[in-house]
Amino acid sequence: MNTFAETLIAWQHTHGRHGLPWQVRDAYRVWLSEIMLQQTQVETVIPYYQRFIARFPDLAGLAAAPLEDVLTLWSGLGYYARARNLHKCARAVMEGHGGAFPADPALLAELPGIGRSTAAAISAFSFGTRAAILDGNVKRVLARCFGIEGFPGNKAVETALWTLAESLLPATDVDIYTQAQMDLGATVCTRGRPACGRCPVAARCVALREGRVGELPTPRPKKAVRERDGRFAVILAGGAVLLERRPPSGIWGGLLSLPELPEDADTATWVTTRFGLTVHKVERLAALRHVFTHFTLNLHPEAVLVGHPSICSEATTLWQPLDRLEEAALPAPVRKLLEQLTQPDLLGDAH
Ligand code: ADE
Repeated sequence: MNTFAETLIAWQHTHGRHGLPWQVRDAYRVWLSEIMLQQTQVETVIPYYQRFIARFPDLAGLAAAPLEDVLTLWSGLGYYARARNLHKCARAVMEGHGGAFPADPALLAELPGIGRSTAAAISAFSFGTRAAILDGNVKRVLARCFGIEGFPGNKAVETALWTLAESLLPATDVDIYTQAQMDLGATVCTRGRPACGRCPVAARCVALREGRVGELPTPRPKKAVRERDGRFAVILAGGAVLLERRPPSGIWGGLLSLPELPEDADTATWVTTRFGLTVHKVERLAALRHVFTHFTLNLHPEAVLVGHPSICSEATTLWQPLDRLEEAALPAPVRKLLEQLTQPDLLGDAH
């Protein structure tokens, strides 16, 4: 039987993704795409990538630009720390590496926003370096195919996966192999409903043989302390945020707060139905933890940019100007979240 890598490389030629705009031997373009692809899918990234390259065709231009311009181009992609690190990294490469990305994954991994797996991917794609990647997709593929037990976020499990990933590296064609692993994870060995019938390594897959595809990779262990997750809508229009009076009992009883989204609700649909507002854009914001006496609340805010604020008609709601937050009786974590929002780059085109 062919090796795991040989099988994937052969599969990539016929079934992998080709013709993606960043599939070029150019470290600047590869780096930019890998940062954009860290938490975002290929179809979403493509137009952002193309606009970005049109505006900043090379590293020097990006490094010389103001951060604001970078954030504007990033607006809508989310996870804005990526954009800040991107800009920092561009400057670090100009200053510390003479404007050329180093080929060594260990040096790449010292740069802002580049972890071990991203460093390996950049190096493999740009320079053909023999370095192993281990992103979420690859962890899933390896855990299933090789029957690796344990939550991959656990340090010992992750170390075992890195060792395995390195042992599987082919002698040549590492770039094709790297893309193959990403493509297999994204298009065949998916989290929800993997297409094992189309999988090139099905014959050797431990999880498939043992009927455990649904169990691997092992999910995150249940939290010991009581934790709750809540989705909160940060509905914004004309420099004001929509607040809602909480019921008199329960957490934050009687205080003004952000409307809480039902667990599975589609944000835009819910906001439209509930408040009769026209939704222009929905954007996830960074989560916030708040510790109560008996439990911890993980707040997952979503910015919802809507049409004119006066359309809202509910009696228990009000529009609070963001520059007058001190006048509203807000729970501490909600105040903190809204105060962070007044940083201009988070609001994007809400102003
Ligand atoms: N995810 C991360 N990097 C990727 C790439 N180069 N191609 C497709 N999906 C990816």
